[in-house]
Amino acid sequence: MIYLDSAATSFQKPPQVLRAAEKTLREAASPGRGAYGAAMKAAELMLEARENAAAFLHFENPERVVMTMNATHALNLAIRSLAVPGGRAVISGFEHNAVTRPLHGYGLEIDAAGEGLFDSEGLIRSFRKKLPGAALAVCTHVSNVFGYTLPVREIAALCRDCGVPLIIDASQSAGVLEIDAEALGADFIAMPGHKSLLGLPGSGLLLCAREVKPLLFGGSGSDSISQEMPADLPERLEAGTQNAPAAAALSAGISYIMSRGREKIEAHEKELCAHMAELLRKQDGVELFLPPRGEQSGVLSLRAQTKDCEQIAAELSGAGICVRSGLHCAPLAHKSAGTLRTGTVRFSFSPFNTHAEIEKAAAKFIKII
Ligand code: ALA
Repeated sequence: MIYLDSAATSFQKPPQVLRAAEKTLREAASPGRGAYGAAMKAAELMLEARENAAAFLHFENPERVVMTMNATHALNLAIRSLAVPGGRAVISGFEHNAVTRPLHGYGLEIDAAGEGLFDSEGLIRSFRKKLPGAALAVCTHVSNVFGYTLPVREIAALCRDCGVPLIIDASQSAGVLEIDAEALGADFIAMPGHKSLLGLPGSGLLLCAREVKPLLFGGSGSDSISQEMPADLPERLEAGTQNAPAAAALSAGISYIMSRGREKIEAHEKELCAHMAELLRKQDGVELFLPPRGEQSGVLSLRAQTKDCEQIAAELSGAGICVRSGLHCAPLAHKSAGTLRTGTVRFSFSPFNTHAEIEKAAAKFIKII
């Protein structure tokens, strides 16, 4: 099998991630729910995971690193905390349904910024025009469909100047691109644990630089007499039994990335992506969606004149090559690129893919179309 769907989830996990999950299942009970050894062990592992994530992401307060079920959960928490029904949310034209559906659900008016496709200057100009008076802004760091890296630093600075709170969706960047939470100064940064951070499904993180409203209400292991959720993070947002095995696995994933070198992973994925693009670029009837040089992360979207995207993905799957086609839960991104009707075939790369795999996948793609 050649797995080229890491934008959906990381499939190959480093052995230390698997070991951390298994060890936690064997040795740890429920964090914050007892003073006996196995419960204390679980609490220690959760704290270690927060500390490791905070250090990796340059976020100064580990207690404000909240464990979530996934990035969608993290984004829902952040959006709920900032939502003003009837208020306006300025977003990029590359947001995922995990952003647009909660905005819609909380009754916000969605105002998508952007001037041309993969035009970062135009995007910044458009944010500058639209931000005054907005209730909040959301910007994805990297498009899950096109691998386009958005100018989040500049957008964060604009939001600060205008006093508009900002949520960054780091679903596609965390673990690959540099994230310096302190330098960005966003109000919230949301990310999954199971994508490039190499953790398990059912895990995610929300970095909270401002006050936040709970989405789930329930036991927190502290102040049980009160019917209010605790005021302090992380307990305020972590109702119910927490997923200590996933937190330990996520921490092991981060440690793996740090020991291999995040910059090396970034360079590797970008090289694989450029290699694939080079192999397909001159192919008749293939349309590649390529952001400018330096602005593309390890995700490549394309479509062919001769065959439907779903059909191509099915035939690739028949040959043991795993990709995702269609709209990738991001219709807005496809609308921005003019691919809403057809969707695209998406190849996305991981630290574990090789150039030989890219060559095989490209050759098969060419044969299929
Ligand atoms: N958002 C994920 C993807 O892009 C699931 O496939």
